[in-house]
Amino acid sequence: MQRLLLLTLSLVVVLCHEQFQVIFEWKSIDFKWPSEEVRKYALLRGDYIPMNNFITTVKFWKDKMYLTIPRWKDGVPVTLGVTSAKPVNNNETAPFLDPFPTWDMQKLGDCSAFQLVHSIEIDPKGRMWVLDTGRSTALRMENKRDCPARLVILDLEDNGKIIRTYEFPDYVARRGVTYLNDIVLDHENGGMAYITDNGLDDPGIIVYSVKNNTSWKIRHDSMKAEKEAVGFMVAKTRVINPVNVDGIALSPASESNRQIYYSPLSSFHLYSIPVSAARDNVTNIDQFVKELGRKESQTDGMAMSATGVLYFGLLADDAIVMWDTKKSSFAVGRRIISRDHVLTQWPDSFTFDEDGNFWCVTNMLQNFLNNRVNISVPNYRLIRTHLGVKSYQYYENGTAPEWPDFTASAESVRFALATLLAVLLVFVAK
Ligand SMILES: *[C@@H]1O[C@H](CO)[C@@H](O)[C@H](O)[C@H]1NC(C)=O
Ligand SMILES: *[C@@H]1O[C@H](CO)[C@@H](O)[C@H](O)[C@H]1NC(C)=O
Ligand SMILES: *[C@@H]1O[C@H](CO)[C@@H](O)[C@H](O)[C@H]1NC(C)=O
Ligand SMILES: *[C@@H]1O[C@H](CO)[C@@H](O)[C@H](O)[C@H]1NC(C)=O
Ligand SMILES: *[C@@H]1O[C@H](CO)[C@@H](O)[C@H](O)[C@H]1NC(C)=O
Ligand SMILES: *[C@@H]1O[C@H](CO)[C@@H](O)[C@H](O)[C@H]1NC(C)=O
Repeated sequence: MQRLLLLTLSLVVVLCHEQFQVIFEWKSIDFKWPSEEVRKYALLRGDYIPMNNFITTVKFWKDKMYLTIPRWKDGVPVTLGVTSAKPVNNNETAPFLDPFPTWDMQKLGDCSAFQLVHSIEIDPKGRMWVLDTGRSTALRMENKRDCPARLVILDLEDNGKIIRTYEFPDYVARRGVTYLNDIVLDHENGGMAYITDNGLDDPGIIVYSVKNNTSWKIRHDSMKAEKEAVGFMVAKTRVINPVNVDGIALSPASESNRQIYYSPLSSFHLYSIPVSAARDNVTNIDQFVKELGRKESQTDGMAMSATGVLYFGLLADDAIVMWDTKKSSFAVGRRIISRDHVLTQWPDSFTFDEDGNFWCVTNMLQNFLNNRVNISVPNYRLIRTHLGVKSYQYYENGTAPEWPDFTASAESVRFALATLLAVLLVFVAK
C-alpha cells in the first residue's frame, strides 16, 4: 500500500501523444483449421485446449502480423501464427490465426518443426528471426522429448522460406533447461543477435554472430531473479515466480556506442552493457555492467525507438513507462504514458510497425499463471498508439542501415559468381 502511494506521487501519467486504443481483443485464441472436423477432433483429444493458448509477442511486416503462442501447457496446436495486420471489414478484432509458415512446422516432437516459440524479431529486410526453445509444456517441467534450442531465420519476402537454422550448442543453451525469451538485432559486425535466456539454472544473454555462425553466453548476477522481487500483485492476483533476465532492448542504429538494456522479470533494476563488450566475448563482463536505477515494479518486455526512447511496463501498476535515454538519467527521466487497470494488465511486449505506430501486447498473464483464465471475457489485447517513429533497427530519419545479405539465394549467387570467375581464370590461363 505504502509503495503504491509513493508510486502515484512520484510518477503521474503524462499525455504526450494520443491514448492507446484497443485494436485487437481475443477471449481465446483460435485458428484457421483445415476443416471443422479437424478442429472438433483436436478439441476432443486435448490437442487444442482454448484456455491454454495465450500470446506474448506480435511483429509486423507489410500487411501481416505474426504472433507467438508459447507452449506452456498442453493443447497448444500452433506456436507461431499469422493474420492480417488490420481488422478485416474493420470489425473482426479477434481474428483466427493461420499457422506460420505451415501446419507441418508446428508439429510437436519433430525437432525440425517449432516446439515453443516465445519471441520473434523481423529485420528491415523482411527476415524473421524465430527463437525456438525446443521443448513444450515448460510450466509443468515435464520432459517429453526435448529438441535443441534453435534460432531459425525465415524470409518473409520469399513465402517464409527457411534461410538459416542454427542449433545452440549445449554449453550455450542447455537442452531441457534453456528458455529463449526475447531477441534484439544488430546490423553491424556481419549481423548479431542478442537473446535473453531465462532458464532456471543457467540464465544469461546469448550472443549470436551471423557472419561466423557461432554463439556464446554472457553470465552475470544482474541477470538473475532478485529475491525481493519474486512476488507481486496484478489486479488482486498474486504472482510468485522467480524469473531471470527477460526484457531486452538495444539502443538505436544511429548510436555509435550501442548499449544492450535488460532486466530480469523478478527485479526492480534496469541494467546495460555495451554491445562492444558483448560482441568481443570478454571474460570479465562485470566491469561493463551498469546499473541504471530502480523501477517501481517488475517489467516483462521492453522496446527502444529509433530516437532512443525506451518503453517498458510496470506489471504491478498496469502501466507503461517511457524514458528518453538521450535526454535524461533513468532516475529523473521516466514518465508513465499509460495506466489502465483493465486494458494494460500485464504489458508483455512492445513493437513498432512500419507506419510509426507503437503496439503493446497485454495478456493478463497473472490469470494464466494461476489457472484462472475465463474465456468468456477478453484476455489478450493488442493496444496501439501513434508515435510517428520507427524501431531501434532504423536511423532517426527512418531509413534502414545496410544489413549483410545472407539469404540462400545470395549464397548461391555468390557461389555462381565464384564458379564463373574460376572458369574465366582457367580460360585466361590457357
Ligand atoms: C463485419 O462486417 C461484415 C461486412 O460489413 C459483416 O458481413 C460481418 O457479419 C461483420 N462481422 C462481425 C463479427 O460483426
Ligand atoms: C550454422 O551452424 C549450424 C549449426 O547448428 C549448421 O547446421 C548450419 O549449417 C550453419 N550454417 C551456415 C550457413 O554455416
Ligand atoms: C568472426 O571470426 C573472425 C575470425 O575468427 C574474428 O576475427 C571475428 O571477430 C569474428 N566475428 C564475430 C562477430 O564474432
Ligand atoms: C567465448 O568465451 C568463452 C570463455 O572465455 C570461450 O570458452 C568460448 O569459446 C568463446 N566463444 C567464442 C565463439 O569465441
Ligand atoms: C467468467 O466471466 C463470465 C462473464 O463475465 C461470468 O459470468 C462468469 O462467472 C466467469 N466465470 C468465472 C469462473 O469466474
Ligand atoms: C539517414 O541517416 C543515416 C544515418 O545518419 C544517413 O547515413 C543516411 O544518409 C540518411 N538518409 C537520408 C535519406 O537522409
